[in-house]
Amino acid sequence: MAAAIIQLKDLTKSYGKGLAETRALEGVNLTVNSGEFVAIMGPSGSGKSTLLHILGLLDKPSLGQYFLDGRRVDHLSENQLSDLRNQKMGFMFQAFNLLPRTSALENVELPLVYRSGLRGAKRRQLAELALAQVGLSQRSNNLPNQLSGGEQQRVAIARALVVNPQVILADEPTGNLDTKNSIEIMEVLSRLHREGRTIILVTHEKDLAAYAGRVIQLRDGRVESDIYQGNQHPLTLAATWAP
Ligand SMILES: Nc1ncnc2c1ncn2[C@@H]1O[C@H](COP(=O)(O)OP(=O)(O)O)[C@@H](O)[C@H]1O
Ligand SMILES: [Mg+2]
Repeated sequence: MAAAIIQLKDLTKSYGKGLAETRALEGVNLTVNSGEFVAIMGPSGSGKSTLLHILGLLDKPSLGQYFLDGRRVDHLSENQLSDLRNQKMGFMFQAFNLLPRTSALENVELPLVYRSGLRGAKRRQLAELALAQVGLSQRSNNLPNQLSGGEQQRVAIARALVVNPQVILADEPTGNLDTKNSIEIMEVLSRLHREGRTIILVTHEKDLAAYAGRVIQLRDGRVESDIYQGNQHPLTLAATWAP
């Protein structure tokens, strides 16, 4: 039996107050087991990014409960949340968010700078390992602008991986990439999933959601559907899913 790594109970998130209040999420119940690859889909404004930010401990719910690895986390302090986030979560965003004047290797080392008791040589070794996992060992001294978009996003994956996170959270990670580079990124995420990582991917593209084992559709801040699609290969699926 797989263990639940994430459990949300009646989760609500609102922004603003009174007449200006926006309900971004409303009564979301969700369990994600360790090792799942989940795609979150839905129209613009349906709450996808808000949900991912709360799951990643970047933001707190207004109401409801969040259990991470069996521990209730929604009421923790900012400091406790950032410690937990640094230990357990790896993030990827649409904009790769790499530091421009900093080599690929140094970008990957960054999340480790906050780890006390980790020496420079050890940090470097872990960063080299993470770059190797995304096939970029040869590029470790390159600056971001010397890399293709796909390679930059692979550096961002390595930066997410370097802390050995329990969960990888990706918000439209291929939104700035062409098809070839998008497939390259999805192949890396698929491999990480096969290696046992838990992955939560926000996307509005069915072709990309097809890589996940489960697709959750949000609408107006609620879970509209939650479907397990098994382990069909995305290339086979693409044919049957074409509109
Ligand atoms: N920081 C914020 N302040 C106010 N409203 C916000 C904020 N972030 C998101 N919203 C609103 O919450 C809703 C959900 O937004 P979001 O989670 O970004 O949706 P999605 O990622 O699906 O496009 C939208 O109505 C959006 O305008
Ligand atoms: Mg969004």
